[in-house]
Formats: sequence, C-alpha cells, structure tokens
Amino acid sequence: MKVLVYGSGGRDHCLADTYADSQHVDKVYFAPGNPGVLHTPKGKRGLIEVVRTNDFSQLADFCIENGVDLVDVGSENPLEQGLIDVLNQGGIRTLGPRKEFVRLESDRAFTDDLLAKIGVPKPEYRVFDDRLKAKEYVRNIGYQVVVKANGLAAGKGAIVCDDAPMAEAAIEKIMVEKIFGDSGNRVVVEERKYGTEISFFVYLDGKHAMPLRMFAQDYKPAFDPDDTESIEQFGGNLNTGGTGCYCPHKLVSPWLVNRIIKEIVNPFVNAVYNQLGWEYKGVLYFGLNLDPYENLDVFEINVRHGDPEWEVLARKLSTDLFEIATAVWDGTLDTVKQVWNQQHYVDVIAMEGRSKAARGWNKGYPGRYGKGHRIVGLDDIGKGVAIYFAGVDEDQEKGLVTYGGRVLHVVAGDSTLEAAREKAYKNVRKIAFLDHHNNDVNCMRFRETIGL
Ligand code: GLY
Repeated sequence: MKVLVYGSGGRDHCLADTYADSQHVDKVYFAPGNPGVLHTPKGKRGLIEVVRTNDFSQLADFCIENGVDLVDVGSENPLEQGLIDVLNQGGIRTLGPRKEFVRLESDRAFTDDLLAKIGVPKPEYRVFDDRLKAKEYVRNIGYQVVVKANGLAAGKGAIVCDDAPMAEAAIEKIMVEKIFGDSGNRVVVEERKYGTEISFFVYLDGKHAMPLRMFAQDYKPAFDPDDTESIEQFGGNLNTGGTGCYCPHKLVSPWLVNRIIKEIVNPFVNAVYNQLGWEYKGVLYFGLNLDPYENLDVFEINVRHGDPEWEVLARKLSTDLFEIATAVWDGTLDTVKQVWNQQHYVDVIAMEGRSKAARGWNKGYPGRYGKGHRIVGLDDIGKGVAIYFAGVDEDQEKGLVTYGGRVLHVVAGDSTLEAAREKAYKNVRKIAFLDHHNNDVNCMRFRETIGL
C-alpha cells in the first residue's frame, strides 16, 4: 500500500513515520514535507519520499498516477481549504474531515454554542465582535479569563490572563493588532480554569467513534515556570503550539477514560452525527481540563491530531495506523482493536533561542527568531530515540538548517517516565543550532520540565 501524508510539521513527519511502520505499507509520500525526513533512516532508505507540492489538484493527479491508496491530512489549514474534498472528488481515500466540518475548530463560537446546547461542560464564555464591549465585559466580571481568537491560529490563539488590564491588552492584541490575523475579527472570552490539561483523541468513521483509551499532556507555555527572566522579557509566559509532551498522562486510568467518553465524547459525537447530520470521518481532538474539584470542562475541539501529542501517542500505539485509517474510511471502526505498549514517552521540542541577527538580536521563539542556523549532533542520537523534524530547511552549503521557531522533536521511550525523560534530555543536549552571526554559539533552547 502507498500512503501520502500532507503536511510539513513534526506531527506530520511522525504520521509519515508511523504509516511507514505499518505492515501493509511499503511507501509513504510526504507533501510538501520537510527536508529533515531525508536525514532519518526511513528517508535515507526511500521508505518516506518528499513530494514538493502544495497544489491540491497537482496532489490529486500525483495520487492517481502513483496509485496512492490513502491520504492523511495532518493540519487544520489544508483541511479548511478543502483538500479532503478535492481528493475525494478524484476518488482518493482519505483520513480527515471535509471542509465544512472544519468549522468545529475554526469557529469556536459555533462549537461553544453546540456544547452549551447539548449540556457538555465548558467554562462560561461570551462572544464579541466589538472590542469595546469585550473590554467592558472583562472589566466588570471580576474573575480571570482567557481571550481566544475565533479562528484558526495553529494552536496558539488563546491568551491566558491574570487580571482585567491583561485581558484588555489581549483583546487589543487580537482584535486590533491582529496578531492571529483575521481570526481576531471575533473573540471568545472564557472563564479561566485551573487544574490539569488533558488532550483526548477520538477517531470517527461517519457512524462509529473510537476514543483512544490513552492520553497525553501538552506543555503549551513557552518557558518553565521558574524561568522568571524569560517570562519577564517576553511580557508573560506566552502560550505556544506546544513545547513538549509526555504520555501516558499521569491521570490516565480506565475510570477517567470512561468518564470522558460518557460525559463529553458520546454526547458530542452524537450531536455531530445526529443533530448536525454530519458524516464526519477523521480525528476529533478534545482539549480538556480536570479541575481540583474533579470537574471536567472542554477548552477546545480540534479536527486533527495534536502536535506534539501525536508524537508520543504514536510511539505508544501498537495498533497498525493504516488499519485504523482504512477503518475510518470504510466505516468499520467498531472492528478495530486498540493496543498500547507498556512504555512511557517524552517529547522535548528543540526551539530557536536567542540569536544574533545581522543587526541586533533575535529574542527567539515565541518572539522573533533567527533562521538558517546549522543543525549539528544528529548523528550522535541514541538508537531508538526518534527525531521528528518541524521548522527545518536544507541549505546547499550548510546542510540541514533551522527555519521555524519549533525546529525538531526528540522523542524517547523507556519503561518509566523518569527513564524516558532522562533519555530525551540526554539526547536533546547532543544537538546544537550554530549561530553563524555569533561564533557558532549554540542558540537552541528547550524547556527543562517536560514530564515533571
Ligand atoms: N498541542 C496543541 C495543538 O495541537 O493544537
């Protein structure tokens, strides 16, 4: 079988890698992909091949000409642009929701209203198109809020606020400065919740749901909580798309999984199939909170695998991903058996840190970051430790270089969480990004507390 994974980030690389492990698959195409893959064993052997196009009709032609059996679309933007619809029109099998169903992620107000209507617990919220009314609201309610852009923002569109002035500033940044682009035309102001975040995933085949009985924890804040210097410099511990992840989440238990399915997944999936009447095929991602009083709340719903959650879940999943994807397409998820291995996994993300620019300095991710820094140390990575590439590029002279803020994932597994952490950190420390404007000083940074 041949699979094409559409995307270019760490999750998408990991999807390609996981399909390549399937007993049914002998070729994975990765489009538009990233050149990091060619520095991995599967890329070198040609098991994963990069296809450099992001033109949807060219992709459909490529799939037909090359006999691609299934396409998995990793991220929300191509889903919203209708890639699944284009491929299905060409008779190509896919994993991912059709364009109109992406609304569950791209229109938070729509999904929040649906959750409220069916009685699925979620924090108090109000939707605003007018920034002055939004500001008046946050000045008056008294409790802390999260301000969210009502649109796609690569998992970063929420600003967690300590007080009313911070919430007003967040409204200004989203609605006036448009830091998340047009997604900031409308905001959702939501009650701030405390507790533990849970990222929970469910596959849907248009008729059935297969909730994963395993979940992961993402680390969204850019810095470790005790890194007060950076937090001050950046004006707060900004949320990122994720700086690392571990699995199993410390709260994984059969009873909590059952509760999540009963209180959240089943009513929501039932509403998608029966109230909206949608034949949704793909993944649903439930971003949840368990508060100190053991109440569950839904923070967000996304229409794809999480990044970096997928990078650890994929390593722990022993069920063949191609079999799951085929069942999603065929409507036979009720026949799939879920198997998880006994290992613990930790993903530490190597990010662009402070670097010298041609003039002045780059603060580093999640602020302005440098590019084109040579990546070294990959040959020393231990056996069995996976590297998934995200923001990288190939330079004719330097070889593999940095290109994005989150550059690569180091994912290690072991029989305990502590051993997996130790292995991940030992290996990430072998890697360096050489700052060519600053005597090749290492400008890579990572959080130290993933999995703690
Ligand atoms: N891990 C956050 C996201 O994928 O949106």
